[in-house]
Amino acid sequence: MAALLLLAAGCRQDMQNQPRMFPQRGSSMFADGRSVRPQVAHTVARGQLYENDYFYTGLMNGKEANFMPFPVTMQVLDRGQERFNVYCTPCHSRVGNGAGMIVERGYKPAANFHDPRHIDQPLSHYFYVMTNGYGAMPDYKAQILPQDRWAIAAYIRALQLSQNAKLSDVPSGVQVENLKTVAQQQGYPASDAGPWPMPATAVYGAPIIGTVAGAPALNPMPVAKSAAASAAKKQTTGKPPARP
Ligand code: HEC
Repeated sequence: MAALLLLAAGCRQDMQNQPRMFPQRGSSMFADGRSVRPQVAHTVARGQLYENDYFYTGLMNGKEANFMPFPVTMQVLDRGQERFNVYCTPCHSRVGNGAGMIVERGYKPAANFHDPRHIDQPLSHYFYVMTNGYGAMPDYKAQILPQDRWAIAAYIRALQLSQNAKLSDVPSGVQVENLKTVAQQQGYPASDAGPWPMPATAVYGAPIIGTVAGAPALNPMPVAKSAAASAAKKQTTGKPPARP
């Protein structure tokens, strides 16, 4: 009897053979012949209400600005550090000096965040560059969520502080150790605390001439051809940048 029941149940195919729509396949169900329904005009899909422009673009009235769209906590910085180490260090290195492993293998030197030019940039510029790319750098819009792009921007500020701190930034009474001593104590050669030269394999391409109309600082500043050539020469033959 039980076997007969099983057999009978096995014969019912209603659920298995339901009519269903395949993406991009036509259908005679609707007048326009499409199986997929277009979004109804002026409606917002769940999770797509981009009401805070600055949070999603890094621009305030079309300009970059120097503040975070949400409060920075230690948790935000930790997240920023983790995402930075995943996505940015291959080119910018862990300390953000622009001499990462990909540059070592023959890529254009990535920005050194400790250059005064980058320290002076408004915070949302970092967000903007991650969102839209910049010169030789691809954009990371698809890989990194806006929330995380901001966390990374905040972490870049922390990195800048870590490499450019003055003795006066340290509370009095706190002992400051020499980097060489710290390296040796941790079992690294003292030379690890020395200059970190830009690898000779780094490629210095010609800067892109001209800017995209209406887009703030997407392309590196236009540089006259002769100036670009001598700048490139200076960079390849000049002193290596000091390791921060
Ligand atoms: C594949 C290598 C690569 C990766 C990965 C990369 N960058 Fe870059 N980045 C570059 C290069 C190269 C430049 C210099 C672009 C130029 O001058 O053409 C640059 C420049 C920059 C600049 C400076 C733009 C300016 O105003 O001069 C910022 C800020 C920046 N990157 C942030 C980031 C952040 C944040 C990440 C991680 C999400 C990241 N980059 C990942 C290669 C990279």
